Amino acid sequence: MKKLPLKIAVLVSGRGSNLQAIIDAIERGEIYGKIEVVITNKNDAYALERAKRHNIEGIYVDPSVCKSKGDYDRAIINILENKKVELICLAGFMRILTPYLVNKFKGRIMNIHPSLIPSFPGLDAQKKALEYGVKVAGATVHFVDEGVDSGPIILQSAVHVSDKDTIETLSERILKEEHKIYPQAIKLFAEDRLIVKGRRVFIP
Ligand code: GRF
Repeated sequence: MKKLPLKIAVLVSGRGSNLQAIIDAIERGEIYGKIEVVITNKNDAYALERAKRHNIEGIYVDPSVCKSKGDYDRAIINILENKKVELICLAGFMRILTPYLVNKFKGRIMNIHPSLIPSFPGLDAQKKALEYGVKVAGATVHFVDEGVDSGPIILQSAVHVSDKDTIETLSERILKEEHKIYPQAIKLFAEDRLIVKGRRVFIP
């Protein structure tokens, strides 16, 4: 029996350029998947506009009506389970998931981070890279574990840092790589080609 398209949820908080890259890769037929829902914690996230334009359901889960982080994540889990989501993609989602949510979807949550992990996890990665003086920066797609940007690495892409770089120019160059490797990682997941052994992800 033919496999059905991978059911994907994308969690966003802002402009949604990575969401757009994923939508475009699906529409080009590169990923055998379907975005069932886009979930946000910000009702003015531009990502919601992008979802709407492609007839993808966007749901705002308002943090202020949830008493705790646990309640918030349970609200998200309800949506994910209703939609039978198989892969959760964090794409600029500015909240840390509770261990409960992470463990419920273990091995089925990915994140994109604008640095070569394990360098510069957390906020302002591009600024930290410039200030540190690295000559090579980049982007990482990784599985999500209970830590911050710490799960097994799926794909990375490097860019050179030039003397002329500012946070903006470096961020822009890294973002271009993000838009390539995030859809690639999702494609590999949809094809069951990501084998996780401890910290290492093998791609047969
Ligand atoms: C990206 O730089 C991503 O690596 C980071 O947040 C940013 C989101 O950008 N996690 P966008 O909303 O996908 O444009």
